[in-house]
Amino acid sequence: MADSRKRQAAAAALEEIENGMRVGLGTGSTAWHLVDLLGAKVAKGFECLCVPTSEATGQQARALDIPLTTLNETPELDLTIDGADEIDLRLRLIKGGGGAHLREKIVAAASKRMVVIADESKKVDVLGRFPLPLEVDRFGHRATARHLETVLADFGAQGDLVVRGGIQTPFVTDGGHLIYDASFGRISDPEGLAEALSAVPGLVEHGLFVRLCKAAYIAGENGVEVLAAPTPEMK
Ligand code: A5P
Repeated sequence: MADSRKRQAAAAALEEIENGMRVGLGTGSTAWHLVDLLGAKVAKGFECLCVPTSEATGQQARALDIPLTTLNETPELDLTIDGADEIDLRLRLIKGGGGAHLREKIVAAASKRMVVIADESKKVDVLGRFPLPLEVDRFGHRATARHLETVLADFGAQGDLVVRGGIQTPFVTDGGHLIYDASFGRISDPEGLAEALSAVPGLVEHGLFVRLCKAAYIAGENGVEVLAAPTPEMK
């Protein structure tokens, strides 16, 4: 069920990609459907130039003959379509469940427009049920984690900060970094937390996406709902 909804959301968002666009391709099981559907269009002659947000997505896109570029060759993109782990009503996101949020955020920030695709289980009133991924440089990561714990406590984190995969067999990102997952419970000030985390030396990137996502395609039992981010006047 969730998988067919992911594909429905991906199919709806695919309509945003116009012929000739430069597009960021997200990572994860929902973005997999988007890339798959785009590959089918490309096979019929549709033109686009894409930047993948992970090695895994790049591999999938290459297998489908989707033309790829890099952000160094093409530093501005028209659109990025990606999945998310949580989406709140203002379209603030938690991302990084797949460990790709660093590249996902760089690609989203280089895009004129970023939209997310998801099944309705990802929609929440308040962010924080899903552990917040924190990508950390390996150098001195335990010292960085202590610093992060202080910040997380200041913002009301309810749970532990753990190395993904465990310290003996850690998960390593495409960029060669570790991920610490912060169990929160409830993130009442995502913008404040994002700013405070970004000031911690050694933290490469956190999984909070604020002011980046412009629309969400959310598939549920009544079809695909399209949510738009609030405009500055509405905030
Ligand atoms: C990858 O690091 C993530 O940000 C994914 O976009 C996110 O985890 C959503 O993945 P699924 O579509 O597999 O739920």
